[in-house]
Amino acid sequence: MIRDVEIRSLAQHVGETVRLKGWVQRKTGKGRLHFIRLRDGSGVAQCVAFRDELDPESFQLIRDLTQESAVIVEGVVRQDERAPGVPGGYEIGITSFQLIQRVEDFPITPKAHGTEFLMDHRHLWLRSSRQWAILRIRARIIRAMRDWLDEAGYLHVDTPILTAAAGEETTTLFEIDYFGERSYLAQTGQLYNEANIAAFGKVYCYGPTFRAEKSKTRRHLLEFWMLEPEMAFYSLEDMMDMEEQFVSYTIQSVLQDCQPELQILERDTTALERIAPPFPRISYDDAVARLQELVQQSADDEERAALAIEWGQDFGSPHETALAAMFEKPVFIFHYPTAVKAFYMQPVGGRPEICRSVDLLAPEGYGEITGGSERIHDAALMEQRVAEIGIERRSYDWYLELRKMGSVPHSGFGIGIERTVAWICGLSHIRETIPYPRLLNRNYP
Ligand code: 4AD
Ligand code: MG
Repeated sequence: MIRDVEIRSLAQHVGETVRLKGWVQRKTGKGRLHFIRLRDGSGVAQCVAFRDELDPESFQLIRDLTQESAVIVEGVVRQDERAPGVPGGYEIGITSFQLIQRVEDFPITPKAHGTEFLMDHRHLWLRSSRQWAILRIRARIIRAMRDWLDEAGYLHVDTPILTAAAGEETTTLFEIDYFGERSYLAQTGQLYNEANIAAFGKVYCYGPTFRAEKSKTRRHLLEFWMLEPEMAFYSLEDMMDMEEQFVSYTIQSVLQDCQPELQILERDTTALERIAPPFPRISYDDAVARLQELVQQSADDEERAALAIEWGQDFGSPHETALAAMFEKPVFIFHYPTAVKAFYMQPVGGRPEICRSVDLLAPEGYGEITGGSERIHDAALMEQRVAEIGIERRSYDWYLELRKMGSVPHSGFGIGIERTVAWICGLSHIRETIPYPRLLNRNYP
């Protein structure tokens, strides 16, 4: 009996006759010898068709194969170091062939295409090797993050997507008509996490989050996936200790398990290999002083203009890139001005103009990948902050009630999956980090 086998496990079947099912990435050859580079989703393998070993009809079908045609091949697995493929090193000597569907004119060919064209054909573009590698790394990243949290005793608790309580900037809300009531797509699961910690101690939510970002940048999506841990009785410093462990584990898991994918992306992993706790930690005050010093020393007018900053301003991408470049590892920036951060952040004792917030900036120009804080646990102060949001108090009644029902100091953060994928894969734009990106002016496919 001939067994169905996945390409990723060919090494275990050398000498056997197996059946592979997939799509033709490429067909080459001439005369009596033709090569199919077959993709089955798990990998890519070279299949060799030799005229003398096949019936004439099968051989002709193979000879005339087109890109992305769907096929089933049977053949003998041979070890051959030179055989191309992913993982490579094995080829199939075809003994039997079946055409499932022949494709006429697959739009994405090996020649170069423009970004907009590729984005319009995203549903087909996903089959190309770079996209395959990126999305596999994405899956590995998510698994590593969840493994780390599950192992460390965090409970995964889902939070709603439809919510009447805004968690972040009200300017980026997607509004929904909830049978006559106003509701929004979740910008964060955090507020619900804050309720969940009193039941479970340490929790995380993972899901899609939405921000009506009205500007085009290479770091922003309108729909992105965020993983948000929240911990009762954690200080900001406790959280930084945890974050550096969590992020390092994620990076090291990808380096360990995704070498074929990283090679397809031609990712130089030197900078990633260094990532292990501890990470440097600097205050916002210190960061501003360092940037101002950089501006003073710079002879380049353009750079001076891009990096100019006054105390109190939020960082833009050029600032984040310059700050991250001062260190070999990701860097924590803590205690940002209260005015540039969200309503729920705990003010610093004796200096209410700054808050107990922390962002983690990735190296190599990838900017902020996590944002978090200690939360206000005092009922009166939270009451005052909620009043400033501009959304009816009744949407926050439950959230405010938490501040009276065993309220404790607590902290949490969110990590953007797509920013993390862009960083680990070394991509210049966030649009390739998610299967179907939602961008300003793009809601297709
Ligand atoms: O800093 P943010 O807005 O923090 C929160 O939403 C908190 N409620 C999280 C928490 O404390 N539980 O977002 C967190 C992270 C950012 O650091 C960034 O990685 C990512 O989410 N992010 C985006 N990623 C892609 N597109 C966007 N428009 C993003 N906005 C934030
Ligand atoms: Mg942020």
